[in-house]
Amino acid sequence: MCNGKIPQRGIGMEGAREPVFRSVRAEDIAEICGFPQNPMELCYIFPSASFPLMPHVLMEQIEKRRCATVMMLDGRVAGFANLYDIETGNRCFIGNLVLGPEFRGHGAGTLLVRHMMDTAAGTFSVRTIMVMCINENTPALRLYMKLGFRPLGAEPRSGPDGRPLVAIRMGRDMG
Ligand SMILES: CC(C)(COP(=O)(O)OP(=O)(O)OC[C@H]1O[C@@H](n2cnc3c(N)ncnc32)[C@H](O)[C@@H]1OP(=O)(O)O)[C@@H](O)C(=O)NCCC(=O)NCCS
Repeated sequence: MCNGKIPQRGIGMEGAREPVFRSVRAEDIAEICGFPQNPMELCYIFPSASFPLMPHVLMEQIEKRRCATVMMLDGRVAGFANLYDIETGNRCFIGNLVLGPEFRGHGAGTLLVRHMMDTAAGTFSVRTIMVMCINENTPALRLYMKLGFRPLGAEPRSGPDGRPLVAIRMGRDMG
């Protein structure tokens, strides 16, 4: 269920670009490492990593997690995400969600999160999908709110510059 081309459900991009989802490959890694544009963006997706994200660090992360997935648009790697802290039949988290900068702001992130939700429900029968989102990350907060995620808790975090931040834990029932 984590692999292969998944047909879309008509939520559509603006225009004719049809996303294709597949498992990450070794040749994708360097490209994905270039997606976080600065230390703050890396903090949003991978708080324990140092900027710039290095291929071996991403590879180690992928090995620890499940369903590492890329979204292809026009034959290019446009986005990446995976699943972690999986409790089969109960819940899991979507993590390391990131798009290449030129693919942002056109609904691609929404498509990728929906795909990961479907993957989590189909593969692990989870009833709740969770995410962690930093308080200053307005695009991600809006994306999750639009998809029905609601705040469930919060944890203190520090930004790469030492600034105090809050990681908001959000969840959405798949019922
Ligand atoms: C977060 C991210 C995945 C969102 O993907 P995206 O394709 O840009 O998002 P979408 O186009 O689907 O839009 C999602 C929402 O964010 C809003 N949004 C997009 N860009 C925005 C911006 N620069 N400022 C504020 N809101 C923005 C959209 O308006 C939309 O909300 P709406 O439908 O209520 O209007 C992408 O911006 C990204 O990769 N960011 C860097 C990494 C990151 O923050 N990952 C998330 C970790 S939790």
